[in-house]
Amino acid sequence: MTIAIPDHILAIQPYVPGKPIEELEREYGLTGSIKLASNENPLGPSPRAVAALRRAVGHLHRYPDGGGHDLLAAIGTHLGVSPARIVMGNGSDDIIALLTRTLLGPGDEALIPRPSFLMYNIAVRSAGAQPVCVPLAGMAPDLEGMLAALTPRTRMVFICNPNNPTGGIVGREAWERFLGQLPPSVAVVLDEAYIEFARDPACPRGVDYLAEEGPAVITLRTFSKLYGLAGLRVGYGVMPTALAEALNRVRAPFNVNSLGQVAAAAALQDTEFVARTLRTVHEGLEYLYDALGRMGLRCHPTQTNFFLLELGRDAQTVFEKLLRRGVIVRSMRSYGFPQCIRITVGQPEENRRFVDSLAEVLAEG
Ligand SMILES: Cc1ncc(COP(=O)(O)O)c(C=O)c1O
Repeated sequence: MTIAIPDHILAIQPYVPGKPIEELEREYGLTGSIKLASNENPLGPSPRAVAALRRAVGHLHRYPDGGGHDLLAAIGTHLGVSPARIVMGNGSDDIIALLTRTLLGPGDEALIPRPSFLMYNIAVRSAGAQPVCVPLAGMAPDLEGMLAALTPRTRMVFICNPNNPTGGIVGREAWERFLGQLPPSVAVVLDEAYIEFARDPACPRGVDYLAEEGPAVITLRTFSKLYGLAGLRVGYGVMPTALAEALNRVRAPFNVNSLGQVAAAAALQDTEFVARTLRTVHEGLEYLYDALGRMGLRCHPTQTNFFLLELGRDAQTVFEKLLRRGVIVRSMRSYGFPQCIRITVGQPEENRRFVDSLAEVLAEG
């Protein structure tokens, strides 16, 4: 049998996720490893979400609510937007794919910051369209550079704010200037996967830019990070109603399973867990910046639950030596930072273990 795989699919570099703990322990014969590699919530899932899951398991013989009524209502109340503007996804990854499938086709271009979240590239290519990468300005997306890269074929622009993997943000002033100059035919995807961790008051929120005139602003959010529900896969996009209707034509009817729907709605109410998570992350950052600074290392500023650490030596080697000590972080070699690793803030004992292990690795030379 000969299957012809289209060239635009063969051009896709597969997404490489953070190494799962189980895989590391199998490969290296370790136990008690820690993972600070995928920007997950170190405290586990929201307890309110877990309680809701327990109540819901008895109904698993039923299909989910394909319209996600209760979840969309809860998100709408949380953000102060109409549920008609919200599309739910199997993670925000799903919304990225729905947007590119709905809006892009062969010959179209989408602007993507580089480096940034890898799924933008994969989704654009999957739709047969052309990703056009625009290097960051410093550690955040370069909005002037994006404007300069526009062509008559540009249909979509991705902005990750705060940006993964660098942790930097686009400020409100630059964002508003950018929106004012963008042709109304271009859709702006503002990925706010980490926005809840941002403390800089200059960080804009996409839901404040829902005007019907001008370019469509699509805000992406996820339950994978702040709410600790990465394994359940729930995310959403907030967008103009007409675009939400279009995405709902393309969306699989049961793309968010019934457990995901009830857990996400319950997590939104879990203000105690949210406060505890933010405290853990912000105190963890303080500890890590202080301890690593005292080791003579430079941490890049961040508005997220992760940060880039400059090692002044080959990051891949350090990454592999940390793996052998049961500590999983991310090497940034393939992201254009060959001397950086990305660390997700963990629980206090995990942060200490990382610092101690890194000190051992660096002392080895
Ligand atoms: C910037 C960014 N956007 C989107 C996602 C995807 O999140 P989800 O788990 O909701 O698919 C991630 C996950 O790491 C991310 O870093």
